[in-house]
Amino acid sequence: MATIFEDGVRSRTAKSRALYEEARQVLPGGVAANTKSTSPYPLYFREARGARITDVDGNEYIDLVMGLGIHILGHAPMSVMAAVRERLSSGTMPGIATELEVELARKVHQHMPCAEMVRFVNTGSEATLMAIRVARAYRKRDKIAKFEGNYDGQHDVVQVSTSTSAGPADAPEPSLNHIGVAQSTLRDVVILPYNDPERASALITAHADELAAVIMEPVAGFGMGCVPATREFIRAIREVTAKHDIPLILDEVVTNFRLGLGGASEYYGIKPDLVTLGKILGGGFPIGGYAGRRDLMDRFVTLTGQPSDSHKRSASRVPFLETPSPWRQVSPRSRSSKRARCTGTWTP
Ligand SMILES: Cc1ncc(COP(=O)(O)O)c(C=O)c1O
Repeated sequence: MATIFEDGVRSRTAKSRALYEEARQVLPGGVAANTKSTSPYPLYFREARGARITDVDGNEYIDLVMGLGIHILGHAPMSVMAAVRERLSSGTMPGIATELEVELARKVHQHMPCAEMVRFVNTGSEATLMAIRVARAYRKRDKIAKFEGNYDGQHDVVQVSTSTSAGPADAPEPSLNHIGVAQSTLRDVVILPYNDPERASALITAHADELAAVIMEPVAGFGMGCVPATREFIRAIREVTAKHDIPLILDEVVTNFRLGLGGASEYYGIKPDLVTLGKILGGGFPIGGYAGRRDLMDRFVTLTGQPSDSHKRSASRVPFLETPSPWRQVSPRSRSSKRARCTGTWTP
């Protein structure tokens, strides 16, 4: 049944309605992400400036979404846009190292001391995926623990108990969030109750021997509707994970540079082993990052698997997490051969 609100929307958004009919032919649900779906149909926007956005019908709105919190300076701030324009003229995505990545990593570290070393990726989902991979490499175990109601990205192992719940509240059971997530994922996830320091600590202790990592949102966002962790809770989780040498991954994709320049780790006064970054880090451009303890990052992320100051590098001896450029793995001879093959694995 249409509401008065929906009738009002329909009466002034004929172009969005027409665009929706076209969009449904090429975009599932007529949108590029489910979060953009609204009722009775998505509204399509053409401009965003400051605090206001304008839809294709010319209606102006005050934007409370602000790119899911990214646009802390408002949409299209002049100084940022000018800097971006200038930078674009020097080229995009060189695929080789740049001074800027060094500068950005330094800036992240300066504001977030727990980010002793940083790697940049494209999204928050990649950031949590890679942070989990670092922790798994360190612990040589597969299982992770996450909190019921926490959203930590799109990949399988964190698409468990995000907006679904199962079992008793103080001993939640893993439940798959999406059709298409592998059933086998359930074997690799322990679900913990959020903001329940005693029960969560007890479950971490009970599973300590099999856990590679505990990942937590310092403020539970999408799944729970913005519920901050209590100080007692976050400190208890830090304590119990440290006691068992289980890397704590603080998922700061939303809170980085927003709960304060130092993010949630600074706000709560804790030092996670790994931290994930995203959203506001790019100021409206797609970027994510994972960062943390030097010994974990340098050892498990580099090509060599050795700390960068080591003189005993041996790429063949220690496996690395990020697959390098395929070209580096093709010998000069095989490169020109029709039967050229990569000697390692390459995941595009
Ligand atoms: C806490 C948290 N972690 C990870 C992600 C995944 O980030 P992305 O959407 O950039 O993949 C999100 C996305 O909203 C998030 O809120």
